[in-house]
Amino acid sequence: MSGRRLEGRVALVTGAASGIGAACARRFAEEGARVAGIDLAPAPGDGDWAAAVKAAPDSLFEQADVCDEAAVNRIADATRDALGSIDVLVNAAGVPGGGAAHQIALEDWDRTIAVNLRGTLLPSRAVLPGMLEQRSGSIIHIASVEGIEGFEGGSAYNASKGAVVLLTRNMAIDYGRRGIRVNAICPGFIDTPMLRGLFGMEGLSDVAERIREAHQLGRFGRAEEIANAALFLASDESSFVTGVALPVDGGYTAGHRFGVASMMGLD
Ligand SMILES: NC(=O)c1ccc[n+]([C@@H]2O[C@H](COP(=O)([O-])OP(=O)(O)OC[C@H]3O[C@@H](n4cnc5c(N)ncnc54)[C@H](O)[C@@H]3O)[C@@H](O)[C@H]2O)c1
Repeated sequence: MSGRRLEGRVALVTGAASGIGAACARRFAEEGARVAGIDLAPAPGDGDWAAAVKAAPDSLFEQADVCDEAAVNRIADATRDALGSIDVLVNAAGVPGGGAAHQIALEDWDRTIAVNLRGTLLPSRAVLPGMLEQRSGSIIHIASVEGIEGFEGGSAYNASKGAVVLLTRNMAIDYGRRGIRVNAICPGFIDTPMLRGLFGMEGLSDVAERIREAHQLGRFGRAEEIANAALFLASDESSFVTGVALPVDGGYTAGHRFGVASMMGLD
């Protein structure tokens, strides 16, 4: 394969102002895509998003809540008008949120489920009619390792991400015959503002170290490493891949270490 991997494609990316979404926007732009970004936060003046815009001057960015159906539909329409029909959607907007089930405030539960699940559904609904018409498209949901296994205190976040994983499989079934592929990426713990915010909370530095240790590669991931997996799923290189929940997690979900490998000299 030669040339840029998303040349001529149009991608809509949610959560594009920060972390994984911003890294996807930049990576896609580097590979020739025209990129539209949505985020609740304003587009940063420097850093990842600016780099993406620089690489692809016909990109656009709109500030909006992914839970707002009218706003999401309006931005999808604006994207089609400005950049052309949408080939790729990355749903990266998301929020943390949890607490033991008997303690979590209901409004926190509702917001986490809304942003992570409704906020995945609405952009999908906004792009699907166009993809159905053109009989092609790639939709990528950013779920989590916490959507495929439990995590203490996770409650709302795990429930939302588990739902996104099954939504992925159902959408792959529903739209496969129309040439639309739907996949999820399940990142391990990735060094982004979201993770830095969580680990900055009081008493969590020891926990952060143990979580880092639980990745078999012995480190946290980088947003660019998730963007590279998203690039694969967005491009024709993954033309026979649909319905998967792909862990990109440094071995976090591979299993456990109890010291036996160390006894074998595998430190
Ligand atoms: N960082 C990790 O360790 C990790 C691990 C697994 C999965 N994820 C998932 O990856 C995705 C991106 O997370 P990140 O780590 O880059 O976090 P981040 O906080 O750096 O970026 C998330 C972005 O989503 C935006 N956002 C939040 N709510 C929104 C809303 N209602 N409407 C529009 N935009 C909204 C935020 O403003 C922010 O810019 C999230 O879905 C997150 O759950 C992250």
